[in-house]
Amino acid sequence: MSNKERYILPSLSEGRKRSRNEKDVIYGASSALDALSDVGIGKKYYIRTYGCQANVRDGETLAGMLEMMGYEKTDNEREADVLIFNTCAVRQAAEERVFGEIGSLKKFRMDNPDKIICMCGCMPQEEVVVERILNQYPQVDLVFGTHNIYRFPELLKQVLEERQRVIEVISEEGRVFEDLPVRRSTQGKAFVNIMYGCDKFCTYCIVPYTRGTERSRKIEDILKEVKSLQEKDYKEVILLGQNVNAYGKDLGMEDGFTDLLIACAETGIERIRFYTSHPRDYSISTIEAMKKYPNIMKSLHLPVQSGNNEILKRMNRGYTRERYFELFDDMKERIPEITFTTDLIVGFPGETEEEFLDTLSLVDHCQFDMAYSFVYSPRSGTPAANMQDDVSAEEKKDRLFRLNEKLAKYANEKNQAYVGKLVKVLCEGSSKKNKDVYTGYSEENKLVNFTGPKGLENQIVEVEITEAHSFSLDGKALV
Ligand code: SAH
Ligand code: SF4
Ligand code: F3S
Repeated sequence: MSNKERYILPSLSEGRKRSRNEKDVIYGASSALDALSDVGIGKKYYIRTYGCQANVRDGETLAGMLEMMGYEKTDNEREADVLIFNTCAVRQAAEERVFGEIGSLKKFRMDNPDKIICMCGCMPQEEVVVERILNQYPQVDLVFGTHNIYRFPELLKQVLEERQRVIEVISEEGRVFEDLPVRRSTQGKAFVNIMYGCDKFCTYCIVPYTRGTERSRKIEDILKEVKSLQEKDYKEVILLGQNVNAYGKDLGMEDGFTDLLIACAETGIERIRFYTSHPRDYSISTIEAMKKYPNIMKSLHLPVQSGNNEILKRMNRGYTRERYFELFDDMKERIPEITFTTDLIVGFPGETEEEFLDTLSLVDHCQFDMAYSFVYSPRSGTPAANMQDDVSAEEKKDRLFRLNEKLAKYANEKNQAYVGKLVKVLCEGSSKKNKDVYTGYSEENKLVNFTGPKGLENQIVEVEITEAHSFSLDGKALV
């Protein structure tokens, strides 16, 4: 690389700022890309995405842009001309994995000077990450963040034409970009952003810093996307936001998420799901809408994080164990067939054995269908990273083990109850592990692997469950 490098560096403290300004919506954001449409002809791209569905959806935007430039997708990173690491910053382990992958590409990049390695997503929003790239990873050619994805074609062009290393990470509250290209990565179902960012500032979490302030897309823009997906024969939309229950607050809507959910349901699309719900802002009207509309799936991901009130308070979650139970029990009563999944953190700074036991007893009460469990990972710049922590790594690992045993027991019990029953599965194609077996999710959000005749892709299929495991069901299609 020459010394003509161009750097705009991130700042987490800037990323934390919030104002009450109306957020900009930029329409026609892809029109500026037309001029770049031939840079990639005859070349290939490879994208590896880490983290949440928001990142998966961003990966689809990047793929859409690359294809507009003429690039073709490959699943073999060594064959690609442009390699993109679309990263997640939520835990240190995920970051180390990315550094490991990029580290292992050093020789490959030196032997192939025309290849371009890019890092984007949430990691570059952190100063420490960009410093590390600057000092130790010369093989990375382009770094950009979550706020300037729309600039990617322009930045790539700069790297290609001027052979300069480009780092452009903006730390702002964020805007809403409409009409960017998209190359969907899923069959049958599609991710639809309803809002960006997060203002909850849970004390352990980096997301509000890396993704900016909560800002909602306009309801008419979301509905336009849902309708166009329906026209393209997508059967399911998955509405995305870090805290969907806050949808529309920034637009002055009172019960925005329920209004949006009802409007989506009335399009008649076959299935609607949404991630992620936050217990703090849940409204009864949302539950009533779920109950009323058969095309809103009766499964809820409702992260609880901990079962202990002191820990919940120090996490800044804004609810108590009792409030969570109240909400949980109320939903079960109104919609008895509803399935629940959650997220849990063990080993938050200073968590005592008694406090951890409260999490285990919460799991006994709720008996989740499935849960994601994590050991707390300190994120620099967040309040929890400065809290006293006298719990050993070994103790934390042991808690995770005990929690996982309990979670697996309930997940398995719940799944066993499906053996012999019929479920409706949206067929997403063949399973990665076995080409002769289809895979998809049931209405209850159970992962189902099943056999059946050719041609079931993208159809909702009735499947009889023959066997159950902790994390999936096996069955055969009744067609
Ligand atoms: N917005 C969603 C999820 C965001 S991140 C929500 O509020 O539920 C996904 C999950 O990662 C969180 O639910 C939490 O369980 C976990 N997580 C976030 N920060 C973490 C950290 N510092 N250490 C361990 N787990 C973390
Ligand atoms: Fe992170 Fe909390 Fe926002 Fe979820 S709600 S993204 S855990 S700060
Ligand atoms: Fe990770 Fe960023 Fe999502 S930190 S969880 S990719 S919002």
